[in-house]
Amino acid sequence: MNNMLTAKEIRQSFLDYFKSKNHQIVPSAPMVIKDDPTLMFTNAGMNPWKGIILGNHPVKYNRVADSQKCLRVSGKHNDLEEVGHDTYHHTMFEMLGNWSFGDYFKQDAIDFAWEYIVNVLKIDPKNLYATVFEGSQADGLARDDEAAAIWRKHLPDDHIINGNRHDNFWEMGDTGPCGPCSEIHVDSRSENEKAQVPGRELVNKDHPQVIEIWNIVFMQYNRKADGSLEPLAMKVIDTGMGFERLVRTIQGKQSNYDTDVFQPMLKRIAQVCNAQCKLPNAEGKIEYGKDENTDIAMRVIADHIRTIAFAITDGQLPSNEKAGYVIRRILRRAVRYGYTFLGQRDAFLYQLVPQLIDDMGEAYPELKKQEAQITPVIRAEEEAFLRTLDKGITLLDKLMEDARKDGKTEISGVDVFTLKDTYGFPLDLTELILRENHMTTNEDEYNKALAHQKQMARDANKQDLGDWTVLVDDTQCTMQNETEFVGYDQLECEAHIIKYRQVSQKGRDFYQVVFDKTPFYAEMGGEVGDTGELRMQNAECKMQNAECRMQNAECKMQNAKCKMQNASR
Ligand code: SER
Repeated sequence: MNNMLTAKEIRQSFLDYFKSKNHQIVPSAPMVIKDDPTLMFTNAGMNPWKGIILGNHPVKYNRVADSQKCLRVSGKHNDLEEVGHDTYHHTMFEMLGNWSFGDYFKQDAIDFAWEYIVNVLKIDPKNLYATVFEGSQADGLARDDEAAAIWRKHLPDDHIINGNRHDNFWEMGDTGPCGPCSEIHVDSRSENEKAQVPGRELVNKDHPQVIEIWNIVFMQYNRKADGSLEPLAMKVIDTGMGFERLVRTIQGKQSNYDTDVFQPMLKRIAQVCNAQCKLPNAEGKIEYGKDENTDIAMRVIADHIRTIAFAITDGQLPSNEKAGYVIRRILRRAVRYGYTFLGQRDAFLYQLVPQLIDDMGEAYPELKKQEAQITPVIRAEEEAFLRTLDKGITLLDKLMEDARKDGKTEISGVDVFTLKDTYGFPLDLTELILRENHMTTNEDEYNKALAHQKQMARDANKQDLGDWTVLVDDTQCTMQNETEFVGYDQLECEAHIIKYRQVSQKGRDFYQVVFDKTPFYAEMGGEVGDTGELRMQNAECKMQNAECRMQNAECKMQNAKCKMQNASR
């Protein structure tokens, strides 16, 4: 095993190897997806190639390799909750991939992978295992004997393991390109541990030291909406190697965070956070590897700053909906861990951007180009959320303290609801803090408070409509039952009321009035209604959205002759 290679060298060596095998090296596609309703973020290296794989786009190069920015935080592939707590899941990660579009297939794909990791990276073959698809009755597919036969050239039989449809038939989603796959797993345990339990028994068993590093997919089908498989016109090789895991293997580390992918960032986090830490006796306290909670928080931050910065670079600002909300939540998760475990009361994440550029800016030059945009966006988001956190955490601490005084481990669901509804304190954070304090909340109470609030909102929007009082016979209308719109040439006119009615909403009364003619354009088809004034004997009314608000107006509408003045145009 070559311990000398740095992360940057490993990334480059992958691209150099496939370049030497006549692959076109292409830059990463954006991590944020704007034109696919089924996907918000690139969650696999193959996403940008979907159109080519399905035959909808022409093939430009039939051999390609790249290092793709991926994000797994929503939908089918979602690792968010593990991130920071374990040492090998990430939100954003890099996927090294090589593709063949109608060129080589199983034989070369497996041989290239083997040559690269064994001959170039010098991973000891006795620590390697390959999985092959065992077949599926449901799909009418046989075992992948062809892949198994190729692996037999490289590995002994007991290092080749059958895998089921879940692990060895890769699908992009419920529909779309798919096919059987072979994964390469590496056993990084000590010799002693290996002697006790053979690695083959730990493959795909979530053992932190026996992990998958490379997935080689033999794309052959398109999964249709009815569940059937349609053969693709062109066979495709799609491979994905988790860069952070590969670096960890090559550098002989137990955790992805112990590699030089994350170490410089963890050191920078310690510097920045120590300098503004508000924990008691804080000096120099923040150091990776000394305390479990500090380590988790530092890993969360080291991971999340990549996602946040790259998402903004790719054009996804934090916001209150869809992809923007996913990014906002990730940013808030990082701020929250910094706040609670690293004593951060002031914005700190934005100060990590220069380090990220040092670490990743060479491979992803867009990061440096966007630095002036990324930094203030992160800072403003942090500051806004810190204000909310301060208030919410103080309230939640008090609630937990009161419960403890009463000998309880549960706090009221109504209080949790108020924290969210009134103070904007995120529910998932309340739940997390309660879990960490070995407390719970009453979910029934919470749900009742939520239902009550929804009902109130519905009631608030409910209108009580009075009957129309029709005045048309008493007026000198120019038109019957229809309002003449004169606003194209006039902003002011005299008019007569045709009918009116009282409307009660949110405990207040006002009137809707229909005139024979009006210079007010009503709200229609997305346009905002005009505003202005209506004057009549004894009363002056404000017209809003072309609707007359006459609260407390003592106005007799019988025979009312009005002067209307449009103030909006
Ligand atoms: N599509 C496969 C994966 O994401 C290989 O790239 O694992």
